[in-house]
Amino acid sequence: MAERPPVVDWTRDFDHNHPDWSQDPHAIWDDLRRRCPVAHTDRYRGVYLPVRHDDIRAIAYDTEHFSSRRISILEKPPISAPIPPVTSDPPRHRPQRTMLLPAFTPAAIGELEPVTRQMCNELIDAFIAAGRCDAAADYASHVPTRVISRMLGVNERDGDRFRTWIHDLAGDSVEDGVVFTRVIREIDAFFRAEIAVRRTNSRSDLIGFLMDQTIDGEPLSEQHLLGTLRLLLLAGIDTTWSSISHTLLHLARTPEHRRRLATEPALMPSAVEEFLRVLAPVSVARLVVKDQEVGGCKFAAGEMVLLPYPAANRDPEKFERADEIVLDRQENRHSTFGLGIHRCIGSNLARMELRVAIEEWLRRIPEFELAEGASLNWSRGLVRGPRSVPVRFLPV
Ligand code: HEM
Repeated sequence: MAERPPVVDWTRDFDHNHPDWSQDPHAIWDDLRRRCPVAHTDRYRGVYLPVRHDDIRAIAYDTEHFSSRRISILEKPPISAPIPPVTSDPPRHRPQRTMLLPAFTPAAIGELEPVTRQMCNELIDAFIAAGRCDAAADYASHVPTRVISRMLGVNERDGDRFRTWIHDLAGDSVEDGVVFTRVIREIDAFFRAEIAVRRTNSRSDLIGFLMDQTIDGEPLSEQHLLGTLRLLLLAGIDTTWSSISHTLLHLARTPEHRRRLATEPALMPSAVEEFLRVLAPVSVARLVVKDQEVGGCKFAAGEMVLLPYPAANRDPEKFERADEIVLDRQENRHSTFGLGIHRCIGSNLARMELRVAIEEWLRRIPEFELAEGASLNWSRGLVRGPRSVPVRFLPV
């Protein structure tokens, strides 16, 4: 990782790639919420950081002043590689999104539950006899990769390639235009080959489904098709992986929670919402396209805004005992899947994967703890989660 200048003052010089942020961004956001609820930095060519729920919500809903044309924060001007619908603004966004929804309904996702359970068990079979594993690398990272591969109709054994692409697009190397262009070319070549196969023999998978879509009576352009396929492949992998591995880390450290879930399985739906809320992985960005004022602060056109949805979830103005995981919390309108028109299309899928992954783990490995001397390795950037969670299984 490139050496970064130390942060002098988080209110006017924050850096979302700083190791302190990766280790514990909530400590930073809590402090900012008390002192300066909209922080700013001149790094990355100028970025604002609101940390109160209501300000984050107002910006996410305001597509007139805040555009999704740019959703990541980079040192250099990014190379344009749209991934519709997430990088589209109204009015183009709505039809691009609507056509995807039938593939992600609760009924469509429900059909994937048995195979997801089977995949989780195959993963557990591979390490249970050893009495230990890395819950992030050996388990959590594979569950969403295998499920989305199955949905798309591509080879589930290609998972390592997909994770390498994510790594290259999320790390420092994304600043390197050569790496970025190479990865996009590789993904596009991968999908072009898959599309060609389906042009000769149609298939009823997600790629085939997308190839059949039209907008205003016209088939999707190749750029649109490839952009959306890139999004569908990548949007659900490191996000869901982070939620599963962070939840397992929490359970490894919290015996009373894993025991309660093992003995009261009916708690699982509300517990999953709490894991999603408190351990939320995803922040996104917007480009300010017109000057605006939110929460008493001015946002100047041309700069970026970072929207930390995980901070919105821990705002004490919005949630009682905001930092605490309350397994049976009843009212839980969290922002983990975003707010406004870009709210996550994959939320039913992510919820199912998280629930099934935790249910199967607890059924087979009810007692476990962090391995002695375990070092956790946190991802950097806008999707945050532990990438290494070494655990040891305990006798029951
Ligand atoms: C725990 C797992 C996940 C989290 C926390 C998450 C979070 C998010 C967030 C915060 C957004 C809003 C982005 C914005 O405001 O600009 C979003 C959008 C999106 N997510 Fe997810 N996501 C997860 C899993 C998935 C999965 C499994 C898929 C399926 C492939 C998926 C597909 C999408 C798509 C297509 C959008 C764009 C929606 C639009 O622009 O209208 N996500 N997600």
